[in-house]
Amino acid sequence: MRDEQFASAVLEWYDRHGRHDLPWQQGITPYRVWVSEIMLQQTQVSTVLNYFDRFMASLPTVEALAAAPEDEVLHLWTGLGYYTRARNLQKTAKIVVEQYAGEFPRDVEKLVELPGIGLSTAGAIASLSMGLRAPILDGNVKRVLARFTAQEGYPGEPKVAKQLWNTAERFTPYDRVNAYTQAMMDMGATLCTRSKPSCLLCPLEHHCEAHMLGLETRYPIPKPRKTIPQKRTLMPLLANAEGEILLYRRPSTGLWGGLWSLPELDDFDDIAALVQQHSLALGTQQELPGLVHTFSHFQLAIEPWLIRVHAYGHHVAEADWLWYNLATPPRLGLAAPVKKLLKRAADLIHAGETS
Ligand code: ADE
Repeated sequence: MRDEQFASAVLEWYDRHGRHDLPWQQGITPYRVWVSEIMLQQTQVSTVLNYFDRFMASLPTVEALAAAPEDEVLHLWTGLGYYTRARNLQKTAKIVVEQYAGEFPRDVEKLVELPGIGLSTAGAIASLSMGLRAPILDGNVKRVLARFTAQEGYPGEPKVAKQLWNTAERFTPYDRVNAYTQAMMDMGATLCTRSKPSCLLCPLEHHCEAHMLGLETRYPIPKPRKTIPQKRTLMPLLANAEGEILLYRRPSTGLWGGLWSLPELDDFDDIAALVQQHSLALGTQQELPGLVHTFSHFQLAIEPWLIRVHAYGHHVAEADWLWYNLATPPRLGLAAPVKKLLKRAADLIHAGETS
């Protein structure tokens, strides 16, 4: 597909299937398009529809917005969220009135200098309201282009972002750039969706690299997950003759705060001390399959051991320790992997009894 054919296909689709009746597509001015684009940052069209006309009725011009009390602007914004957008909106209105005589600069480089206007928003304002040939690359368009070119690499990386901007620039047509911009946004929002793209309806179907690979949802490549540190711990399941497992209550602060857990040991030799501490004698020992539990900031590799113990001497009840009866489990808060391990132990002990 030649570069010009990309835009033709997209425009042809747009004429038939795109959105033409959005309020900011009527009576187009830079002011109206700018306000709509700021509202549409981080907010869905369906939500913005409830705010846009009311905002325009109260503040119909950039001069009115610049002169309005901040409380009035925030009032009109109430419910849209991300209120920095509203404050930046008024800052920009003041700059446009004071430095540009109330006319938005017809220049992407000047537009991006205004508070709240990034490169893609500047491109949208320039193309949608001024007909300037300016590329955009918002989240929706990024998805379309990353798939079309099977762009490798995470778009948050400057090198990858640069490649996608080059792609966006290459396909932006000289004619009907306003319709093209809206078309790309619409395709991203309605066809080339994140999880289930409607490739059969897409005008780029037969030329889309990701589609040809059958790997649409691989792109855009997600942010690489940080490698998080690994820790290991040995968790003994001390099982007494009654089929009970020794648990202790974690301190109320920190990991698994206040939950009941298995003892955590650095290595196998520490088992002797633990057993002695609880007036127990060691019986048979059996290693269970390991378990990896992922926390937000590290992974814990758990090495569980099922260890039979026998009580001797006088049994003293201890605070923050209990014998957990597998047959009649008490209702307690358990750490997730501990719950899993107790289940395994119950199965093993039950199997041992019935065999
Ligand atoms: N999201 C951002 N800009 C948009 C627009 N002009 N139309 C629909 N959705 C959008």
